[in-house]
Amino acid sequence: MDKRPIGVFDSGLGGLTVVKELMKWLPREDIVYFGDTARIPYGTRSNETVIRYSEQCIRFLLSQGIKMIVIACNTVSSISLDIVKEKFDIPILGVIEPGAREAAASTRNKRLGVIGTQATIRSRAYEKAVSRLDPEIRIFTNPCTLFVPIVEEGWNDSKIALLTAERYLDSMRDEDIDTLLLGCTHYPLLEDAIGKVMGPEVRLVNPAEATALEVGRILKTRGILNEGEAEARYNFFVSDLGEKFEELGGRFLGREIKCARKIEIEKF
Ligand code: DGL
Repeated sequence: MDKRPIGVFDSGLGGLTVVKELMKWLPREDIVYFGDTARIPYGTRSNETVIRYSEQCIRFLLSQGIKMIVIACNTVSSISLDIVKEKFDIPILGVIEPGAREAAASTRNKRLGVIGTQATIRSRAYEKAVSRLDPEIRIFTNPCTLFVPIVEEGWNDSKIALLTAERYLDSMRDEDIDTLLLGCTHYPLLEDAIGKVMGPEVRLVNPAEATALEVGRILKTRGILNEGEAEARYNFFVSDLGEKFEELGGRFLGREIKCARKIEIEKF
């Protein structure tokens, strides 16, 4: 039994989609969230920069006395996971393995689509993880760079979202995939547009739920699950408190965010 919080971080507020699932599946666990809102997006940056940023995020979370780290960002999970696991002495889980497992289990015809940021797709992290699970699965990938700003702008249900999805996913439609992995924190918010373009026969996989379930397994195996009765506490930190913070945060989390605090991430 360990009452310390779980630390979760992302390049911005998109990782709150993972927090939402953690709240649902592990309601006793306290959570400290850090969103690097001043430096988003990570998805178009070099590996070197993403690694440096992720190490700073982890050092900040460690200063909060956490028992485990969840990297909610697909870009960071793709690029930095192995490096930070070596460097820091704390359990660290990314979203790639859980997402890949769910997608591999979902495809019946062994034709899987993966979409994400440029950095995630370039890293081939999802492809490698899926191939380790089942080398027969054929994987089709595409970076969908504009999806992130569309969600940040709140245009999820707009004609622009639909047209952009059509443009990015047109080639994917010809590949006869039966599962599409949404390999970016923001893409689950575009499920309607993506679903309309891909059609009802293509299952959309969001790694957030599988990640939360895996966190539960890790805490249990290590004997560090919080089995107390107290109501869970949530603390939110960001590197910039922009105008749209509450609106955007609420959209990702599915509920209001209270009392987010700003920190100087460059100091960590
Ligand atoms: N959080 C990032 C991801 O899941 C998307 C936003 C960004 O590019 O930083 O890849």
